Amino acid sequence: MKRRQVLLNPGPVLVSDRVRNALTRGDICHREEEFSRIQKKVRKMLVEAFAPGDTYTSVVFTGSGTAAMEAALSSVLAEGKTILVINNGVYGERMAHIASIYKFNKIELTYDWKVLPDIAEVEETLKTHPEVQVVALVHHETSTGLINPVKEMGEVSRRYGKVFLLDSISGLGGEELDLAGCNVDICIGSANKCIQGLPGLSFLLLRGQELERMKEIPPRSLYFHVPSQWESQEKGSTPFTPSVPIFYAFEAALEELLEEGVSQRIARYKRASKLLRQGFRELGFRFFLPEELLSNTITSLYLPNGMTYQVLHDRLKEKGFVIYAGQERLKHEVFRVANMGQIAPGELEDFLGCLGAIVAGTKCKL
Ligand SMILES: Cc1ncc(COP(=O)(O)O)c(C=O)c1O
Repeated sequence: MKRRQVLLNPGPVLVSDRVRNALTRGDICHREEEFSRIQKKVRKMLVEAFAPGDTYTSVVFTGSGTAAMEAALSSVLAEGKTILVINNGVYGERMAHIASIYKFNKIELTYDWKVLPDIAEVEETLKTHPEVQVVALVHHETSTGLINPVKEMGEVSRRYGKVFLLDSISGLGGEELDLAGCNVDICIGSANKCIQGLPGLSFLLLRGQELERMKEIPPRSLYFHVPSQWESQEKGSTPFTPSVPIFYAFEAALEELLEEGVSQRIARYKRASKLLRQGFRELGFRFFLPEELLSNTITSLYLPNGMTYQVLHDRLKEKGFVIYAGQERLKHEVFRVANMGQIAPGELEDFLGCLGAIVAGTKCKL
């Protein structure tokens, strides 16, 4: 039997047959009760998985992760207020970019991609800039695999009475995250990373009171206005045409996540990254980040001496493994290996064997 292609990129990930097969469940009208039921169930499962209780509510968008990012950012800031964006990677940079497109007053604290934000500097900024209303942070910087200090950022945001907005698109389901315990007011997620759904849906988990505050802000977008989307979804409806089959797949993925258990899912990813990293060390690879900053699902490695990313990528792809390039400034230096998705440990071992053979210049036995 031909081996399947193993995706070691950070989304879209390999999904189970159950999730993939859900796509073919049949055509329904999104204005009918059948869709309304699925949407309600998906929204409920999101809260159950990531913020159990009644403090948080959810809202789902047809669109990739950036759609939910744009919805959150464009809806969160009151007129004349300022957003503080913490930028230590591509996705922090993207939040700052969205804030610029909306012509928000913005303060950006930029750090090296290997470095955690300086909480004392954040505090000093909040102290000296009372006009800041929102603090925006990326939980897991997918560009490098770095985990940011969510708890500390939440604490300082709360101390100064700020709204804390967290992009956990590649964190939810892969990393421990206590939204209430970390004072997160709005959390951004997407279907096709650690939740193991298919691409095309993203969502927000947000405090009910945050939604009430957002309702007072004049809309800046039709499609991405969070309160209008939420109100429509609460009524069992949807303002625009949703991606119905992707909802089917998302429903199946969330059922699977709840059956596996979020902590067990995280533990599975932890085991997978441990297996990979042990192999990388044995093969002599150099890690881009210090170990204490590493997430459970992405490892950034320096390219082997004398080998370009393209060569490494193509040789691995010939054998059925898809790795991922370093982003922007890292693209000639670093490559990334993600272990999100439905990947068996044996497939990771095969990948390590193949990688070792390529680096040693010998024949890969697969
Ligand atoms: C942390 C983070 N934020 C935002 C995005 C953007 O998501 P998308 O590419 O689905 O629009 C990604 C995608 O990888 C991400 O990892």
